[in-house]
Amino acid sequence: MNKTLLVTGGASGIGAETARRAATRGYKVAINYRSRDAQAKAIVADIVAKGGQAIALPGDMAHETDIVRIFEETERALGPITHLVNSAGISTGPGRVDAYDAAALANLFAVNVIGLMLCCREAAKRMSTRNGGKGGAIVNVSSMAATLGGRLGSSAYAASKGAVDAFTKGFAREAASEGIRVNSIRPGMVLSEMTERRLQDAAFRAHIETSIPMRRVGQSHEIAEAILWLLSDEASFITGAMLDAAGGGYII
Ligand SMILES: NC(=O)c1ccc[n+]([C@@H]2O[C@H](COP(=O)([O-])OP(=O)(O)OC[C@H]3O[C@@H](n4cnc5c(N)ncnc54)[C@H](OP(=O)(O)O)[C@@H]3O)[C@@H](O)[C@H]2O)c1
Repeated sequence: MNKTLLVTGGASGIGAETARRAATRGYKVAINYRSRDAQAKAIVADIVAKGGQAIALPGDMAHETDIVRIFEETERALGPITHLVNSAGISTGPGRVDAYDAAALANLFAVNVIGLMLCCREAAKRMSTRNGGKGGAIVNVSSMAATLGGRLGSSAYAASKGAVDAFTKGFAREAASEGIRVNSIRPGMVLSEMTERRLQDAAFRAHIETSIPMRRVGQSHEIAEAILWLLSDEASFITGAMLDAAGGGYII
């Protein structure tokens, strides 16, 4: 079966690990990136050197025109898109509620929620059997923050990921009879480009690790493996699910 995977935010962290591992499992991979041109091209070069097929596509997931374009470019280069991982996301934002800034909130939701929803729209147009497609599988990268409102100062981020989960459930039910499976994954704290600066602070890291039942942060590949399982036919009866990949969640 032809398997073409588009990964948004695929040049670093969880998205990059997913792209690399997908390529070794027979997926043709389109790697979307925003600013990480060299990283995206290096991953493509590695995949191609190992005999796989991959392309790198610049595009801002907060911009609808970029989203539409990367879907078109992926199809032109690699054929029909059968799989989508929405990993592009930002955690920087307004901080505590009394410091909220409307523009920062709008940007957070533009990337984490609206961009992700528009990517799902583009995927649904192509994958849905109602539209002549052959079905497909989608994983939206949410966060454990969605479950408890996030760590202190992360309420806006948590709200954006809560929206991802609610949307995933609704979309999954809508698309279930049209051959599309949609699930979300909720990583706990994972060492990636998003968190590495904060985790270099030993006291912060110790505080975080104490709050995780497994007593450690996760690695990007541990999330990527779970994403690949959700994308695969091994998860063929699973849609609208939220999979926690978080070392047991939080001890509170
Ligand atoms: N690391 C964690 O502890 C953790 C926990 C729970 C959930 N998550 C979620 O996991 C996902 C991946 O994060 P990560 O940990 O792998 O961190 P990461 O390495 O920072 O990955 C996020 C990627 O998204 C890209 N991105 C951001 N805004 C974008 C935009 N507007 N358009 C296109 N790409 C954009 C970033 O590229 P630029 O740097 O070029 O903007 C970056 O490559 C995110 O959705 C995040 O919220 C992470």
